[in-house]
Amino acid sequence: MESAATSHADLLPPPAHVAIIMDGNGRWAKARGLPRTAGHKRGAEAVRRTVECAREMGVSYLTLYAFSSENWKRPQGEVTDLMGLLRLYLRNEVRTLHKNGIRLKVIGDRSRLGADIVALIEESEAKTAGNAAMTLVLALSYGGRQEIVEAARRIAVQVAEGRLAPDQVDEAALSRNLFTEGMPDPDLIIRTSGEKRISNFLLWQCAYAELVFLDVLWPDFDREDLIGAIRDFHGRERRFGASGG
Ligand code: FPP
Repeated sequence: MESAATSHADLLPPPAHVAIIMDGNGRWAKARGLPRTAGHKRGAEAVRRTVECAREMGVSYLTLYAFSSENWKRPQGEVTDLMGLLRLYLRNEVRTLHKNGIRLKVIGDRSRLGADIVALIEESEAKTAGNAAMTLVLALSYGGRQEIVEAARRIAVQVAEGRLAPDQVDEAALSRNLFTEGMPDPDLIIRTSGEKRISNFLLWQCAYAELVFLDVLWPDFDREDLIGAIRDFHGRERRFGASGG
């Protein structure tokens, strides 16, 4: 039976879109005298727990920042480890995602990813495309500025080819040309590990998101942390720029 602390009955409706900057794997490992890769491995377990919990709560979109454009600058060995974990996740978890009605979508610059990872992504997206219980969005090789630049470039081509008039370039046109086309903007963005930055994550989409910063390191993130963040979200008054009255 659920305890009062882990019950989420009072959290309905949950935010439609929760996005998480998963941070602190390295510090979690360091505190235990373990290699950074051990932290990432435990981080992948936290991903599994969080996906399950978000789906149970009725979240419609869960976006996880798994690898940023800037993460390519990490030492080669660490990049290889992270890519290995992603490969394992895509190979082993997609069956579970599919069984649980979860659709997988990957956003980011695929041209920098290995051909086998791109093939796994395409296969997983195709397999789960018809699922409607929740959409899990993995941001891989993702950077918000790069995404906006790419959208601007696509719009420029459409204007140059006469498919779009300059005065049709508006917020909706920009949104349509982002990786997140068709998705609602995040309502709640959580960052773990005590850092209080957005770090190039969903820059356009975060305009009205509530931000929750938690001290917990990502490998320790659990159900109660997610519930606590959603409780915090519900305690805030969202005005989307309108006056408080
Ligand atoms: C930050 O920890 C986390 C990342 C670099 C990316 C998150 C990756 C995972 C959770 C593992 C694999 C993901 C999936 C989807 C299977 P950090 O290394 O920046 O920690 P630090 O700031 O303490 O050094």
